[in-house]
Amino acid sequence: MAGVTLPRGDAKRAAVESMFDRLAPRYDRVNRVISLGLDQRWRKAAVVALGLPAGSVVLDLACGTGDLCDAVAAAGHHAIGIDLSAGMLRAAHCDAPLVRADTLRLPTRDAKVDGIVCGFALRNFVALEPFFRECARVLRSGGRLVALDAAEPTGAVARMGHALWFRRLVPWIGGRLSGDEAAYRYLPASTAYLPDGPGLLAMMRGTGFVDVQRTTRTAGAVQIVSGTRSESPPMDGRETPT
Ligand SMILES: C[S@@+](CC[C@H](N)C(=O)[O-])C[C@H]1O[C@@H](n2cnc3c(N)ncnc32)[C@H](O)[C@@H]1O
Repeated sequence: MAGVTLPRGDAKRAAVESMFDRLAPRYDRVNRVISLGLDQRWRKAAVVALGLPAGSVVLDLACGTGDLCDAVAAAGHHAIGIDLSAGMLRAAHCDAPLVRADTLRLPTRDAKVDGIVCGFALRNFVALEPFFRECARVLRSGGRLVALDAAEPTGAVARMGHALWFRRLVPWIGGRLSGDEAAYRYLPASTAYLPDGPGLLAMMRGTGFVDVQRTTRTAGAVQIVSGTRSESPPMDGRETPT
């Protein structure tokens, strides 16, 4: 998107952290408006895609203010939220335990969790492949990963409507409601960091996941990718012996 800087590496991590610290107090309200009230339904669908029995231990990575933690808990699981932004964690409203950490260095031992959810955050990470590897490290074999994120519709009409809403109106509305138009210009522009659907699934297969799937919702504006941690993920020297 014209006029939006998309930083890389450590500069991206620092920019993302300070942006969410600033947005935190108004994040939930703006989300409801710019998703036309659909965001909670998308989160519920992501939790259903986990397909885990009640009582499972599920990490919500990049949990923000905890909406997905609430959806995970409502499904009868034990949610633990992890986020980089102290501001987002302070603004969180959920009952789940919350931990401040980077998703690329999770404070969790190998093969300890049953499931992972991650909502609207893939495009904010410094690198995706190490993220999926870290998820594979902490998931038990057979554990499930589900990520929900923005996507580009494929149909011509949906693409036009989406471009108008997501790239023009969302920055304007988000800017008015949050007082930070630059942040709401960055958020749609940051989808440029994401590989396309087949690319995302290939990355998951290459980092220790099987049964990988991608579904879309709301005319393709939102995607849910999921996978099961394989019995033997590719070893890259980082997994510690049990
Ligand atoms: C768009 S918000 C999504 C919040 C929440 N998952 C939701 O569904 O509303 C993105 C979140 O990712 C977090 N984040 C970005 N990079 C991160 C990282 N490397 N480690 C942990 N959290 C990160 C931000 O602090 C922010 O809370």
